[in-house]
Amino acid sequence: MECKRHIAVLTSGGDSPGMNACLRAITRGSLYRGCRVTGIIDGYQGLLTGNAFPLTSRHVGGIIDHGGTFLGTSRCPEFKKSSTRRRGYLWLEEQEIDALVVIGGNGSLAGVHDIALETDIKVIGVPASIDNDIYGTDNSIGFDTAVNNALDLVDKLRQTADSHHRIFVVEVMGRDSGALAVEVALAGGAEAVLVPEVPGSHDIRTLAEKLSVNLRISKKKSAVVICAEGAAHAVPVARRLEELTQLECRATVLGHVQRGGSPTSYDRNLASRLGSGAVCGIEEGLTDVMIGLQSNQRHFTPLEKVLATEHSFNHEEYDLLTQLSI
Ligand code: ADP
Ligand code: F6P
Repeated sequence: MECKRHIAVLTSGGDSPGMNACLRAITRGSLYRGCRVTGIIDGYQGLLTGNAFPLTSRHVGGIIDHGGTFLGTSRCPEFKKSSTRRRGYLWLEEQEIDALVVIGGNGSLAGVHDIALETDIKVIGVPASIDNDIYGTDNSIGFDTAVNNALDLVDKLRQTADSHHRIFVVEVMGRDSGALAVEVALAGGAEAVLVPEVPGSHDIRTLAEKLSVNLRISKKKSAVVICAEGAAHAVPVARRLEELTQLECRATVLGHVQRGGSPTSYDRNLASRLGSGAVCGIEEGLTDVMIGLQSNQRHFTPLEKVLATEHSFNHEEYDLLTQLSI
């Protein structure tokens, strides 16, 4: 088949499970269409230093079930400067790369938008973040796996909490977003969830009264409170709850373990669909867009809109948790 384009791909920002499945889909989807593919190592850092290699179908074999990203990723603050970005553009030109796919979160997508505004290269973003805080897609790659990772740990904590009649405050990731927290809380049967999107949820006095009723009057064996890191931190919340309720409290910070492990079938298939869709978008000549999944259909949204709009918070799930935790 004729080699139509030279497509480069990189993963950027916080890694998320499913990035490898997405790299596989982009690589094989490109080769299938007769395009050349170059993998850039360590995100925008590799773009600035020209650290890259040609990808073959074999490079992406046996990785669909691996968490992380085999290309590596980075936070690369210097890429925010247009003078620095120009170095990367020169390298792309030298390599005769005419399209770039970036897999990452909101920050990485801001970088994609800059490249689209400053060059003629066709650029497409693919949303990947365990935070699920990206507008234009129902789910970002990695969210479902992170929810299930955290849920598994919350289920385990419930067993020890029940045995000791304790309150557990469990901190989950979510830099500015409560999406992961609310999903885990509802699925884990938590008594409460603290999220940045609902300021009233961090009122500790109201929370202490509720938990006191749960344990002393409703005779629940234990209580689990899920706390998004962007709302509050587990240790001070647990300390204050113990003072106010006079019940034994413990704090657990789940941390980066949420980002690891084998992606769920949902994330593998989401990643495969979005990765292959990104290649189709390039073939159609699209640029400065993000591919997402909306009502189970692939959909391109201009990056300007993606970056200017907030992903909606699921208030229905939040309210349901309140009803079901009595
Ligand atoms: P994520 O993509 O997971 O949200 P970050 O916010 O850390 O993670 O962003 C990842 C990288 O994207 C940054 O380290 C930087 O290289 C690049 N980036 C972030 N914001 C911008 C921006 N406004 N303009 C250009 N590049 C950006
Ligand atoms: O954006 C994904 C995320 O996991 C956030 O939930 C978290 O705040 C942040 O990344 C952690 O970043 P780092 O891996 O740099 O510690």
